[in-house]
Amino acid sequence: MKRTHHCNELRPAHIGQTVTLCGWVHSRRDLGGVIFIDIRDREGRTQTVFDPSDLPKEVFDRAAALRSESVVRVTGRVRSRPEGTNNAKIPTGEIEVMVRELEVLNLADPLPFQIDDPETASRVNEELRLKYRFLDLRRPELARNIRLRSKVAIVTRQFMDEQGFLEVETPILFKSTPEGAREFLVPNRRDPGTFYALPQSPQQFKQILMVGGIERYYQIARCFRDEDQRADRQLEFTQIDIEMSFIEREDIYALIEGLLKRIWKTALDQDIATPFKRMPFVEAMSRYGMDKPDTRFSMELADFTEEFCGSQFKVFGGAVAAGGVVKAINAKGLACATQGQIESMTELAKSFGAKGLAFIKVENGEWKSPIVRFLTDAEKAALQTKLAIEEGDLILFAAGEWLAACEILGRIRLYAAEVLKAAGKLVIPADRFDFLWVVDFPLLSFDKEQNRWYSSHHPFTAPVAEDIPLLKTETRKVRGQHYDVVVNGVELGGGSIRIHQPDVQKTVFEEVLQIPPDETKLRFGYMLEAFRYGAPPHGGIALGFDRLIAILCNTPSIRDVIAFPKTAKGTDLMTDAPAPVPAKQLRELYLELKVPKKE
Ligand code: AMO
Ligand code: AMP
Repeated sequence: MKRTHHCNELRPAHIGQTVTLCGWVHSRRDLGGVIFIDIRDREGRTQTVFDPSDLPKEVFDRAAALRSESVVRVTGRVRSRPEGTNNAKIPTGEIEVMVRELEVLNLADPLPFQIDDPETASRVNEELRLKYRFLDLRRPELARNIRLRSKVAIVTRQFMDEQGFLEVETPILFKSTPEGAREFLVPNRRDPGTFYALPQSPQQFKQILMVGGIERYYQIARCFRDEDQRADRQLEFTQIDIEMSFIEREDIYALIEGLLKRIWKTALDQDIATPFKRMPFVEAMSRYGMDKPDTRFSMELADFTEEFCGSQFKVFGGAVAAGGVVKAINAKGLACATQGQIESMTELAKSFGAKGLAFIKVENGEWKSPIVRFLTDAEKAALQTKLAIEEGDLILFAAGEWLAACEILGRIRLYAAEVLKAAGKLVIPADRFDFLWVVDFPLLSFDKEQNRWYSSHHPFTAPVAEDIPLLKTETRKVRGQHYDVVVNGVELGGGSIRIHQPDVQKTVFEEVLQIPPDETKLRFGYMLEAFRYGAPPHGGIALGFDRLIAILCNTPSIRDVIAFPKTAKGTDLMTDAPAPVPAKQLRELYLELKVPKKE
């Protein structure tokens, strides 16, 4: 046997026993000729003692030569720590192991960064940590995240199994279909010039599984999307992917609420309240300026369209005259915002298409702003009442087209919340989770640049039944049977009831999305065909598994919950993927490169 106990196991009850531990040299202290080494494994750490008066010289010398993170196996007797030397911070803090034998299983090189002290380790540059991910993974924080991830996967499987779902694997080598994001292509050696594409999600296969009579499917599925990376996005990520037959939206809500309840109980021992709140898309946009509102704080958007109809202040009056809206938020206590912060907010507003960001600072009993002199007493009174303006407040405005104005102010709201949080004026408890369903999304959105409609979610989402007749005539008004589950401002998952009638699906593809019939046939022919042979009504959802774990671990980045994540540029700094391939490999694939020379 390599070891008798793990490093978080020994207690006073073991005193007197001879034990063998294996692990990494976590830290070493030399005190008055005696060496203390903390040995760490996945479970925790134990202090070992090398006393030269009690050990063969060569064993002591080997211990003296050990470097941090070397792998060792020690055998010795457990004893009580001397009076006053207990370490209350670790569970093994009452005992230590008096070493008799030491085997060095692997001597580590000097480390690129220290990992024994959480303070220093968390300050190490992330790129360095990603390059040496094997060291980073040894840090207790990361190890805890990976462990929680495994645990949540297990409870998910248990729960889904209890609910009668079958776990089915779907292909990774799929074909290119326009589902939204850009795809990764894989050249096919067997038929030169043809390509597989990696799936953006198992969407089409899970629907076909419903036609195949599986009725309840789930999969903890890897998805691939060649999109811009952010803290909450990776090129490859994982979904808890679900599809069910003979159901309605309510069935999905109940299922997911049950699953999340179980996960929160297991992971955080917290009872979350169900059912979750429901909020129509229009309400989410109007009140929070986002389709994934963070409802843990208010700072809601107030509407002043009526009040500023015909206003002297051209920016507002003009927006209303053009059919737009005037919206404002009150960032309570943010009148102290610096010039720099106001400029950053203005830049942020502009990056979302605003022409500017009008604001009013309420300081020393005065409304300070270049726009105040344009406002009538009635307009001021309306602002005062609806926004409950007080000393120290900062009022921020967006005027323009409804959706754009809401979106701009939604971003500003989040920015203002961050500033208020940093200043200690907004406190959100870490254990607060605001779940909600955002529902009644528009089925289609209009792309002005390309002058065409595209699916808000994906083209398989069913319209609300009574809106089907409006598909071709009043496209804008058609609501989709789509739902998103949101927690603390994060889109955790989304899904829909699907179209299962081939004629409706064909109308959406060809007449609404304007995909030419031959292309529809080429890309989705098998789906339309499947739907003609007995397709049950069905629907489903996918939860972002990485995002779920990041929320549970209270970390802002999903990179902290993925064992081997990629950087913002899509590279794996440890393996250096992606990398060029030898010409021979390209020839086998009948590929020729035309890469522009780097500057
Ligand atoms: P959707 O595209 O909304 O739906 O994705 C579902 C959830 O997956 C997560 N997610 C991501 N996580 C990390 N990195 C990414 N790049 C990334 N992209 C998405 C999000 C998101 O809510 N097939 C449909 C689901 C369905 O209709 O059943 C789909 O994939 O948490
Ligand atoms: P202007 O009259 O263009 O100088 O704008 C007056 C103020 O209104 C400036 O502070 C601008 O930043 C701001 N502003 C301009 N356009 C908008 C808009 N669409 N919404 C909110 N504020 C705006």
